[in-house]
Amino acid sequence: FSPDKFPSRPELFDFHGVSMTHYFTDNWENIQNFQARPDDILIATYPKAGTTWVSYILDLLHFGQTERQTSVPIYNRVPFLEIIVPPLYSGKDLVDNLPTSPRLIKTHYPVQFVPKSFWEQNCRVVYLARNAKDNMVSYFHFDRMNMAQPEAGDWSSYIPRFIEGKLVFGSWYDHVNNWWKKKQTYPKLHYMFYEDLVQDTGQEIDKLCGFLGLSRSDEEKRRVTDGAHFDNMKKDDMANYSTNAIMDFKISPFMRKGKVGDWKNHFSVAQSEMFDEDYKKKMTDVTLQFRTEI
Ligand code: A3P
Repeated sequence: FSPDKFPSRPELFDFHGVSMTHYFTDNWENIQNFQARPDDILIATYPKAGTTWVSYILDLLHFGQTERQTSVPIYNRVPFLEIIVPPLYSGKDLVDNLPTSPRLIKTHYPVQFVPKSFWEQNCRVVYLARNAKDNMVSYFHFDRMNMAQPEAGDWSSYIPRFIEGKLVFGSWYDHVNNWWKKKQTYPKLHYMFYEDLVQDTGQEIDKLCGFLGLSRSDEEKRRVTDGAHFDNMKKDDMANYSTNAIMDFKISPFMRKGKVGDWKNHFSVAQSEMFDEDYKKKMTDVTLQFRTEI
């Protein structure tokens, strides 16, 4: 398999009210019946919010630097539950065969799609959210280079699609808001922000340790902070997706910039104003605030 040999790009369709492609719905029944274990940790995000980063951090916090960390790609250490790309990848099979305990499991599902077993087992859930503008920029470049995603098209046509939720995993606005609401009724949900993680990684790692009930020395935590730095992860073939056959790195790297505020290099003033106006109408919960710069 290589990107140029990959089947044509998938179609986007409406699935229970959310835009999806078949790669994340073909295994629906099995995913819905997934049996979680009480110590499973679910990492939930809208695509491109920094999933790989927080997965890498949790993996290092739990298991440290072992042979597995230097030989198994992050997407196999922290499998993407709902993805199915035969014959390359079945997230659920990978989860079922995970040798680790606890199991770290990634999902991009909106909260209403999450298999009920996670809630029944009272699993810990880490949700990472990223401001809409940077999230969109990152998703745009990802859709350009990932052959298993619908075509990105040009930037000016991408903005209205993001606004209307016509991207894989649906509306960013619904995703971040509905997960935020879940937190009010489900205490074992830790909601965090990409911008905070960039600004003070160490502090966010402290909070994660508190939430996960992990006691780690300052030295250990510093090692995790340093190990998960963008420059390190970009160099690490087990983290930068260079081992992945469906991405074309000639178009854009997976570890692209890792910054807050790159949206300023993409939005025109008019686009930004139009976006902000619509944003205000959609994001009415004042308790959920994002930062577009730090
Ligand atoms: P950019 O495209 O803005 O650079 P996901 O893992 O959810 O697909 O998110 C990918 C985004 O997270 C990319 O954003 C990527 O560069 C960024 N990212 C990954 N590791 C990071 C790190 N250690 N520090 C900062 N950003 C990181």
